[in-house]
Amino acid sequence: MSPTTRRIVLDRFCDGLPEAADFRIETAPMPVPREGQFLVRNILISVDPGTRARLSGKASYVPPLKLGDTVGAFSVGEIIESRNPDFAVGEIVALAVGWTEHVIGDPRGFVRRIGDRRLPLAAWLGALGVSGMTGWFGLHRVARLQAGETVVVTSAAGAVGSAAAQLARIHGCRTIGIAGGPAKCNWLTETARLDAAIDYKAVDDLGAAIAAAAPKGVDVLFDNVGNQMIDTVIPLMRQNGRIVVSGQIDAYNQDEAAGAGIRNTRAVITQRLAMQGRVVFDDLPEWGGAEAAMADHMLSGDLVGRWEVMNGLEATPDAFAGLFRGENTGRRLVRLGPDPEGFPQDQSLDQPGDRS
Ligand SMILES: NC(=O)c1ccc[n+]([C@@H]2O[C@H](COP(=O)([O-])OP(=O)(O)OC[C@H]3O[C@@H](n4cnc5c(N)ncnc54)[C@H](OP(=O)(O)O)[C@@H]3O)[C@@H](O)[C@H]2O)c1
Repeated sequence: MSPTTRRIVLDRFCDGLPEAADFRIETAPMPVPREGQFLVRNILISVDPGTRARLSGKASYVPPLKLGDTVGAFSVGEIIESRNPDFAVGEIVALAVGWTEHVIGDPRGFVRRIGDRRLPLAAWLGALGVSGMTGWFGLHRVARLQAGETVVVTSAAGAVGSAAAQLARIHGCRTIGIAGGPAKCNWLTETARLDAAIDYKAVDDLGAAIAAAAPKGVDVLFDNVGNQMIDTVIPLMRQNGRIVVSGQIDAYNQDEAAGAGIRNTRAVITQRLAMQGRVVFDDLPEWGGAEAAMADHMLSGDLVGRWEVMNGLEATPDAFAGLFRGENTGRRLVRLGPDPEGFPQDQSLDQPGDRS
């Protein structure tokens, strides 16, 4: 019998919050690498809120998937067959292909080699991967962060937010994280060691709570949530404040026209504010230095990587849907196979354990 692999495809377009039933598992022939390509067995795959923008069948900032398409995702895996002399069997790589057990790697697309085995493999999909890089370049390149400034990070217990917030704290900034629920807020102050955390679900007046935590005003807002958060923080910003538009998780399940708008634009003039978005791949040529610096922060204990691991391809759709129910702290991953030799076990870092 010919070898096969399994993958998750879009079964129906998402309407509102995604559900596991929007997806189905399909068995397909094992992909065969062409000249210059290689075949990878995925070990860990990630579930990312940005994927939602592709699941409604409508144009968004990323091209929509068609029904029956494999759902896109980031993964780390091991090369098991190669038709490219620069990529050897046994090498570990990060790719951006999809929720699938096997993928074709092609150096013309996104491929990161993982040569450093000092940290758990999972970290390469979290603080050392797209999430951490989004935080790093958003703060350093867009916000041009200065020590002593006051930084607010939204969805601060999430994958991007937890990396960005800890980087701001390491940089010598007063750092305030906004997250949903006491457990996440406790994690932000106790483990991630932020100066303050605000449970946006528990306060009556979020603006007043941020003002109390930032008595001198806010220099930088790193926003993962969307317009309502931005509108709340704008009036609290100091002169020459910067807003990093990282993501809009609050808007991904709504029609664009139905979402919140930004009204408080007068302060943009009076306070000389700047607002800029960035896509993490804009800075790809410089990831190497940022990855190395992040790894050093993690190894020294300055920055805590956090991830949650579910088991088996079947767990992926609900793991994804759970992001929009606020279930995750840090990067949420699905394990498809054992780690290669030489990587430390996940338990060496703050990691809540296997939830399978
Ligand atoms: N610009 C780029 O290149 C780039 C790259 C990667 C990711 N991103 C964006 O960065 C953002 C964060 O990504 P991530 O992977 O770290 O995800 P994440 O923050 O871990 O996302 C899940 C969390 O979002 C929060 N959330 C869910 N629905 C919400 C809502 N309606 N309002 C407020 N909070 C809500 C929940 O936390 P609470 O319990 O705290 O509500 C949930 O646990 C996303 O918007 C993503 O699209 C951008």
